Amino acid sequence: MQGKSVINETSGVPEYGIFINGEWGPSSSGKTIENRNPARVDDLIGRFASASAEDTRRAIEAAAEARRAWARTSPIERANILYRASELLAARAEDVGRELTREEGKTVAEGIGETRRAVAILRYFAGEVQQPDGEHYPSANPNTLLFTMREPIGVVGIITPWNFPIAIPAWKIAPAIAFGNTVVFKPASLTPLCAVRLVEVLEEAGLPKGVVNLVTGGGSEVGDVIVNDERVEAISFTGSNAVGNQIKKDVAERGAKVQLEMGGKNPAIVMADAELDHAVAEVIKGAMMSTGQKCTATSRAIVDRRLLDEVTERITQRAASLTVGDPSQDGVTMGPLIDEKAAERVLGDIEKSRDGARLAVGGGRPSGVPEGHFVEPTVFTDVDPDSYLAQEELFGPVLGVIPVDGLEEAVAVANQVRYGLSASIFTRDIGKALAFIREVEAGIVHVNSETAGAEPQVPFGGYKGSSSYSREQGKAAREFFTQVKTVYFDPPPAQ
Ligand code: UN1
Repeated sequence: MQGKSVINETSGVPEYGIFINGEWGPSSSGKTIENRNPARVDDLIGRFASASAEDTRRAIEAAAEARRAWARTSPIERANILYRASELLAARAEDVGRELTREEGKTVAEGIGETRRAVAILRYFAGEVQQPDGEHYPSANPNTLLFTMREPIGVVGIITPWNFPIAIPAWKIAPAIAFGNTVVFKPASLTPLCAVRLVEVLEEAGLPKGVVNLVTGGGSEVGDVIVNDERVEAISFTGSNAVGNQIKKDVAERGAKVQLEMGGKNPAIVMADAELDHAVAEVIKGAMMSTGQKCTATSRAIVDRRLLDEVTERITQRAASLTVGDPSQDGVTMGPLIDEKAAERVLGDIEKSRDGARLAVGGGRPSGVPEGHFVEPTVFTDVDPDSYLAQEELFGPVLGVIPVDGLEEAVAVANQVRYGLSASIFTRDIGKALAFIREVEAGIVHVNSETAGAEPQVPFGGYKGSSSYSREQGKAAREFFTQVKTVYFDPPPAQ
């Protein structure tokens, strides 16, 4: 049975609407965007409304109108809606996970896993909003009750990427609404179906109209309008550095609150005393899961020179043993890139990387796969730490192995990039692990596990060019999605 999100159907292909003020409807321009399976380009998943600037302004208007009533609701009532939404999504996790695979291209295990992560995030924020939200202070005046409380910001613009099409929208929208804000949500144009599924469960869970408004569509008609509209008081963005930095400039002019999560060039250091089977398995997971399309992916393996040949050989074997293909099929362990532009860009970057490194495996398009945007798992070794490959985020299944002599050089190489999202070390030596934790410039640090992964109860974000110094998730989400009110409460003078 089709939900209300489907507003039309042509030759069996559903057309999905935008969701403004509690109603699903078409774009005012009538334009749609095609959503195709990146593993099989002839598989048309659906058409999605391509919102106009006018639709986007209507969505902002709806969020602005809903904000006061929503901010006045009890946090417990908001929590109950999030709990209900989490239950609904949990019941659909298998189906939504498979749809995620169909539109994004990660494996089914990852698609279902990500959907379950969105469930956990909804649950977490239902609980988190019931935690203490202020502090009581001593005052210079013994009669003054001096305390702080937190209040919502108002209308929040949420702009999300295609690589975690349900988890990232959940980890922004759940805290935004839990803490009493209303939302204008622009998902990536490449993965609008997961966005629709998330909004559907919120709607079914009883979210009042106008609290979350979904506008699918392009950057100039939707993204720019959200970023530049005075009524939008905060923006939470995950995506590329180019877009993030532009948002920072635009928002600086009008003074809205902003949170940016952008690129990474995440290192995994393999010390000479590491347990090699484990280290290699984790490095490959970090580099190749989701076809390397995570901002937390491992893209540099920084390896003690004495192990270089052995580690390169083991990594190469593991990379070569991945089964590339349609990720909806059993046994496939790596899917396609998100679209043809991405595949061509990654192949171009691989060509650029041949100077200053030795190609150990991969480097081209695989054979025997369906017509999709596939690139082989690719490993370069003897990589120069200053090279393009070692410095730039490729956002694909490409790993560079960089040899070093000892921990000091390993950490110096790890830090010599403009990003600082996550970093790993593999070692049995607790002294080395501690020195690495202290010295590495990264917002998320792993000892003996790969660089990706994010649990909802802890802060997520990076150092340097990876973030805007703000953090998402956990208690940090409350910091971003609320503002502090300080209250001096004195009794009236005695009569
Ligand atoms: C993860 O590592 O599981 O866009 C999450 C990204 C990150 C999320 C990573 N913001 O890839």
